[in-house]
Amino acid sequence: MERAPLLDGHGRRIADLRVSVTDRCNFRCQYCMPAEGLPWLEHERILRFEEIARLVALLASMGVHDVRLTGGEPLVRRDFPALVAMLAALPDVRDLSITTNGYLLERDAQALVKAGAMRFNVSIDSLQRDRFYALTRRDALDQVLRGLRLLAGFPQIGPIKINAVAIRGFTEDEVPAFVELARSSAYEVRFIEFMPLDADHAWTPEQVLSGAQLHALIDALHPLEPLEREPSATARVYRFADGQGRIGLINPVSEPFCGDCNRIRLTADGKLRTCLFSLAETDLRGPLRAGADDAELEQIIRDAVWRKELKHHIGERGFIQPARTMSAIGG
Ligand code: GTP
Ligand code: 5AD
Ligand code: SF4
Repeated sequence: MERAPLLDGHGRRIADLRVSVTDRCNFRCQYCMPAEGLPWLEHERILRFEEIARLVALLASMGVHDVRLTGGEPLVRRDFPALVAMLAALPDVRDLSITTNGYLLERDAQALVKAGAMRFNVSIDSLQRDRFYALTRRDALDQVLRGLRLLAGFPQIGPIKINAVAIRGFTEDEVPAFVELARSSAYEVRFIEFMPLDADHAWTPEQVLSGAQLHALIDALHPLEPLEREPSATARVYRFADGQGRIGLINPVSEPFCGDCNRIRLTADGKLRTCLFSLAETDLRGPLRAGADDAELEQIIRDAVWRKELKHHIGERGFIQPARTMSAIGG
């Protein structure tokens, strides 16, 4: 059933849903989780596949056609490819993508592609084994790269994007290797400005390596040319002037892209979040399990989305970091 579009109170039309399918992760990235991990959600509190599919179907019928599955690390959720197949079968889901750390791609890539996943973004913060280990606290670079190569072998998948969180004092040294990778492969390498969503609440503005600084570093190696920005895109995309490869810069801190934000988020425990930095969230699991029909759920969703935040307030006086870390929101 086709429903009216989903609009917020600032005139933005919501078209993109990010679903966190688990808060668990097999890495412990410094900027996201403490070394000892976090207390995981209990099984009962996590949405079942049928519950996720029901909410996704309802949202898709309101024009939320793009669905991205995240975590924690989505591939650690048991039978994850079965969920992908359920969502891929929904008629109003047009773009089904996954953001992963890549560790389990060797095991799961084939099943995920067969299930209907269309695009993958793989997080890789360093291309040097020891530095990858230091940042993620897992000695896993080779395994991730093997998974990535396996994925790249499926012609129906693409474009594959590589996400590197950009941290001052760390990422500068990674730039030449990432530039070479972007120029010698079909991967779009993207740098993401470090945001205050870390478990340790240790973020400071000084730790952000800005998109402008990265642009200068990259452009000095090989000149860049901007491509036109797609509406509601997170990344500013550039191509190398000689036509070899692409680079994306995601600059939420220095150049916020909230103005045309079309994204909402569903957490693994069934809360609707209208912004990465929301301080309040809307419970959908309770009404769902209490037997709410689609019309009731639709009204709860519309009310919450109407109040979607205008923008984030990073860097402003009075900014409050959300209680959830990135791992419990879903990137
Ligand atoms: P594409 O459709 O492939 O462009 O995906 P994407 O860029 O939306 O997805 P991905 O999961 O790769 O997101 C990359 C990173 O951008 C996330 O991990 C976040 O760090 C950041 N990001 C994504 N959406 C938002 C957002 O709405 N607000 C802010 N501030 N950052 C975001
Ligand atoms: N700031 C920016 N990006 C982050 N990610 C995780 N934590 C942060 C943060 N504090 C990114 C990961 C991955 C995606 C899911 O979110 O690197 O690409
Ligand atoms: Fe959208 Fe909030 Fe991200 Fe801004 S910070 S782009 S409003 S989700």
